[in-house]
Amino acid sequence: MLQCWSAQKSYLPDVIVRTEGCWMHTDDGRKIFDLRSAHECINLGFNHPRILDAMQKQMNSLIYITDDFASEPTALLAKKLSDITPGEGNKKVWFGQSGAGAVEAALKVARFYKYNQLLEKGREAFQGSNQYPYPYKIISRYRSWHGAGGSAMSASGDPRRWFGEPVSMPGVVFAPDAYPYRSPFGEDPDGHRAADYLEYIIEMEGGSGFVAAVIVEPVVGSNGIIPAPKAYMKRVREICDKHGLLLIVDETMTGLGRTGKMLAIEHYDVVPDILVMGKALGVYCPLSACIVSAEVASTFDDYIFGHGQSFSGHALACRAALESLKVIEEEGILENTVKLGEYLHQELKKLGDKHPSVGEVRGLGLMWTLELVKDRESKKPIRSTGEKYDDNPVKELADFLYNEKDIYLPSDKFGVWIMPPLIVTADEIDMIVSALDKALEITDDYYTGNNS
Ligand SMILES: Cc1ncc(COP(=O)(O)O)c(C=O)c1O
Repeated sequence: MLQCWSAQKSYLPDVIVRTEGCWMHTDDGRKIFDLRSAHECINLGFNHPRILDAMQKQMNSLIYITDDFASEPTALLAKKLSDITPGEGNKKVWFGQSGAGAVEAALKVARFYKYNQLLEKGREAFQGSNQYPYPYKIISRYRSWHGAGGSAMSASGDPRRWFGEPVSMPGVVFAPDAYPYRSPFGEDPDGHRAADYLEYIIEMEGGSGFVAAVIVEPVVGSNGIIPAPKAYMKRVREICDKHGLLLIVDETMTGLGRTGKMLAIEHYDVVPDILVMGKALGVYCPLSACIVSAEVASTFDDYIFGHGQSFSGHALACRAALESLKVIEEEGILENTVKLGEYLHQELKKLGDKHPSVGEVRGLGLMWTLELVKDRESKKPIRSTGEKYDDNPVKELADFLYNEKDIYLPSDKFGVWIMPPLIVTADEIDMIVSALDKALEITDDYYTGNNS
């Protein structure tokens, strides 16, 4: 195997032979807590009996047929996703197997829609400065990750994008982040200055004549767990409306209850035109979805939806997803996420007060980070953007947690991530916090203070 995003010579993974709840068992008898929820996919924990049962029953009748035919789980899931996504009417859903695949679909949908609009309007659409070409630009943000496919990676600000350059998909422009702790605009608690600058970029890129869409994660995931300020998200919607752009909301990491609501966008009272889901959607199966508003989807009544993949709408994966939505609704998963999320937040705040290397405690639901710094006043990061693949103190901390405390968490981050499965218990949170308390002594040793 080639391990993702790694040089291979040190790839000697421990072998997992069994999983249950939040835990993985190795072949040599270790029991490891998965603080990353298996790449943020296992929101309901490993081996949930209801999901396994639903999958087993589904397997006995139908696993996959092409989308030239219909199957019950695929149709029911499309309907359910249309219902739970904000906005009215019968939305339409395209199913993929990865977040990147669904993001690629979303970017194409936005561009097709804008192009088809011009076709409909004819000559009158090409007046004044609105001439060649059609609106194709996508505005993304530096602190973002939308996946490793060609266009998804090009639309990602994350350093992983650099591996795809210089042959990125053209037409993406990056806006600064709405990141109050470390805003490029100085003081910007509500993100108004970030929103102003976003609008400036749209205008300078040609506005509605040249820009198709803005893509955002409502809570930035792998680029620092940054919940968008409420006012900022509202402004983004208003700006898109003002300039006739589509708003694509990428919920690959935040969907399915992670933030205490089924979708993170519900915290913002904003209706997207296109919403992307992935990761936890298929529970134990690769499944993603690009959910398109009825208005945007109607463009494909007459014009071709030029996108596709084998295994789209995989019936077994859709059955797992349907059952997981029921489990979330019937087993108090959102309530647990809110309750234990608040408890976790309180405990992390105590760690923040105690350990100087914690610059900020940030998150929502059961999606938290401790942003680590060398100095609190200057906020000098303990691991800079460019050091993603180098040895750094966050890696040291993660190694300590893994080797000494049997807790797995990703080490390639700006800070510590706390993303347990949503079925985590208070006892497990106490265990995590106590281990972190010890581990943070490592990053405290790198704390220099005094702006140095
Ligand atoms: C917000 C977001 N979008 C898209 C992706 C890509 O998903 P996948 O790895 O399934 O392609 C990710 C993955 O981390 C993500 O966090």
